[in-house]
Amino acid sequence: MPPRPRLQPWITPARHLHASSAARLPPPLPTTVAASLAAASSNQGPAQDTLSGWIRSVRRQKNVSFAVLSDGSQVGGVQVVLPKGLDEDLTVGCSATLRGAWVDSRGKGQAKEFKVEEVSFVGESDAETYPMPNTKQGIPLPVMRRNAHLRLRKDGPAAMLRVRSEMNWAMADHFRREGFVRVEMPVITSSDCEGAGEVFRVIEGTPEGPAPASNAPASSPSPPPAASPKDGPPPPSRYLTVSTQLHLEAITSSLPRAYTLAPCFRAEKSDTARHLQEFWMLEAEAAFLDADVPTALDQVMTIAESVVRSIADHVRNMPDVAAHFAHHAPALPGQFDALLAPKPYPRLSYTDAVTLLQAHAAAQPDAFAFAPTWGAGLQTEHERWLAEEHVRGPLFVTDYPTALKPFYMLANARKEGEPDQTTACFDLLVPGLGELAGGSLREHREAELVAAMDASGLDKEAYGWYVDLRRYGTTRHGGFGLGWERLVGLLTGETNVRECTAFPRAAEGSRF
Ligand code: 4AD
Repeated sequence: MPPRPRLQPWITPARHLHASSAARLPPPLPTTVAASLAAASSNQGPAQDTLSGWIRSVRRQKNVSFAVLSDGSQVGGVQVVLPKGLDEDLTVGCSATLRGAWVDSRGKGQAKEFKVEEVSFVGESDAETYPMPNTKQGIPLPVMRRNAHLRLRKDGPAAMLRVRSEMNWAMADHFRREGFVRVEMPVITSSDCEGAGEVFRVIEGTPEGPAPASNAPASSPSPPPAASPKDGPPPPSRYLTVSTQLHLEAITSSLPRAYTLAPCFRAEKSDTARHLQEFWMLEAEAAFLDADVPTALDQVMTIAESVVRSIADHVRNMPDVAAHFAHHAPALPGQFDALLAPKPYPRLSYTDAVTLLQAHAAAQPDAFAFAPTWGAGLQTEHERWLAEEHVRGPLFVTDYPTALKPFYMLANARKEGEPDQTTACFDLLVPGLGELAGGSLREHREAELVAAMDASGLDKEAYGWYVDLRRYGTTRHGGFGLGWERLVGLLTGETNVRECTAFPRAAEGSRF
């Protein structure tokens, strides 16, 4: 009887299937390069194996060629050795499926190499024009960005995507243990949650220029008929969501702990290393918080801190990517130490933060480009000084002036010594970045919420459903939003969020 095809640990047969239907299962997907090498290194692999991947480099010698094959499953490709005759079509960038066996390597740089006996498939690649060649000096960043569809062939971007994927897993595992329900939220909404006017408006229409071939309509659809007065009021405007928070509050009006990881869109004009126009946000919300406001805010900060710790801890234990990124960003191990320090992240009020910043500015007049002033937002330079110099680790800054914050946040009772009203809110600041997350308690009382909406000039009709949440069984609740690409950057040492997602869309536009 021929041996059964070997299954990868990550493709297990569906055990619930009846034996006869299980027999009809298709063959397993190819083994990953990393899994095959790991099995061979522990002497548990088969005598023969098959590897699929892309050729990164080829070095031809008289009787034999050495190539580097990679499928992104580990940092760095593996050395494959091809006898003359089998190497002819191999060029940098081509895809290949190679059958052969692992042997001990006599060369430097690897313990094992893969001796190829058969090249069963090759998707060719023109090495002359291939945008991702293997060069000593590396590929310039603008070329990498312009070729986002191919840059994942490189170690850093591929490892970043694997980190992103594992972060997702760690987040889900953490929240599941904490009793949070994961929910999917609408992407098209009728509200500008943050009220900052940075929305993308959604309008129906046909694309400018030719439609993509596969979707091209037979002929242009006719425009929608003009509204007649009989049709009633026009439908509300539609936007791409800037934050799912308002909808998440509706969820926690029934399921008291909920979270989502969702795409958010902001028409950011600012071309900074921290801003994208399309980014992902982890948002969590919890109901039935403590009646005491500072304690309730502490509860929300603890939710944010504990998920950051769980994710960071998981990523630190991905040995190959942690070593790869630490090599490129020597400060990274220290960053992990700070994120995972045993003591809770310090919590500092905005008023105290401004006092500290002002004292520092007085002692060092050229420390900041912007003078720290009570009532003004903290600049990135202020946030970074607090995290990098003052605390040397992550910290929460709480209770910002109400005038700086959106309508939905719960205002604090007026405190003595403060120039103006503050709000029960926080920003999580971290070294090397500044703001990673922002959250607050929500105004849970109907009359006060309506007054805040009036003060912000909001259309009460459009937010009627949101006010309902206060009318029918309101609770003391709160939550936060965390920029996913910013966290990816923090855990990989990447300083620009454009490198923290496969296809970034930022102020400069994108060809993808
Ligand atoms: O502070 P923000 O604007 O908070 C909210 O949207 C709340 N409604 C969230 C909530 O309470 N559920 O955004 C939250 C985080 C920021 O701290 C930042 O990390 C990230 O989202 N963020 C961006 N990341 C990349 N590009 C942008 N343009 C971003 N804008 C915000």
